[in-house]
Amino acid sequence: MSLRPFRIPQARPDIYRVEVDMRDAQKDIRDAALSSRPAGMDDKDFHRLSCFIEEECGIKMPPSKKVMLESRLQKRLRMHGIQTFKEYCDFLFSPEGTQQEMVHMIDVVTTNKTDFFREPGHFEYLANKVLPELCSGRAAIARTFMVWSAGCSTGEEPYTLTMVLSEFKEKSPDFKFMILATDISTRVLDAARYGVYDEETVGPVPFEMKRKYLLRSKDRSKGLVRIIPELRSLVRFRRLNFMEGDFGMREPMDIIFCRNVIIYFDRKTQENLINRFCKHMRPGGHLFLGHSETINGLNVPLVQVAPTVYRRP
Ligand SMILES: C[S@@+](CC[C@H](N)C(=O)[O-])C[C@H]1O[C@@H](n2cnc3c(N)ncnc32)[C@H](O)[C@@H]1O
Repeated sequence: MSLRPFRIPQARPDIYRVEVDMRDAQKDIRDAALSSRPAGMDDKDFHRLSCFIEEECGIKMPPSKKVMLESRLQKRLRMHGIQTFKEYCDFLFSPEGTQQEMVHMIDVVTTNKTDFFREPGHFEYLANKVLPELCSGRAAIARTFMVWSAGCSTGEEPYTLTMVLSEFKEKSPDFKFMILATDISTRVLDAARYGVYDEETVGPVPFEMKRKYLLRSKDRSKGLVRIIPELRSLVRFRRLNFMEGDFGMREPMDIIFCRNVIIYFDRKTQENLINRFCKHMRPGGHLFLGHSETINGLNVPLVQVAPTVYRRP
């Protein structure tokens, strides 16, 4: 198959294909700063919370993160009308709190920064190297390619993948793919499923792809766009905590994007997780990590093929 190399063009002013009606979406997921703040968290409560977060979510919580944790949890205290972190911890670790509050606590402690076409070299490498190679055999063309955006946040990464893979499919019509997108945070998954973004957020999407894959709200003053239904239907969103037993995958993955996630984990947790990814990856499959993440020093069955791109032999 000879294909022109895929390059991500410069973003240009926006022109969209169709106008659609859409409801208001939350433009900013962060609440305004709180006017009244509870007294600081004492070391005992920080210890209870940080141990729990490290064990259950894998996210490192050294003492240097205490201020950040306090500030992120304040809105949960306010929400429940609770005055102190001690009271909050007692509630959180009670049977009722474990059932009702844990998921919200996890929502606020995770860091969800993401972008469309973040670290764009990865998408070029995917389109120009990985996909043509993976699709070279007859057997390969007959099946559906499985791609996993692991730690997908609000959906920018999996939707970027659907755009890049759809472009590839235009030139190779037999190519079929499916994207699984998972995250521990239910709040970001809700936003991702909805697939509505403000125009600033879709800024990095190349002009031609905006025309093909985004729809603008009928009311232009809202400044919102939505991913077209055809792309949304190609992504299966699911809550998944990397720290929990089995990933529950039925099919092995061809490509795993797990970018800007393991940076929050300690080395042992990173090694365990990447080994588990490898068990769910086809031989010849690829793992993409974030640009500040590496497998150096980890005992994992992968070889590096490009900066922060790894292949299972
Ligand atoms: C910084 S975002 C990265 C988003 C996207 N991959 C990117 O690079 O733009 C990290 C995401 O990992 C998720 N995450 C953190 N710990 C997790 C865990 N234990 N299991 C699953 N997802 C987790 C967070 O909720 C967050 O949405």
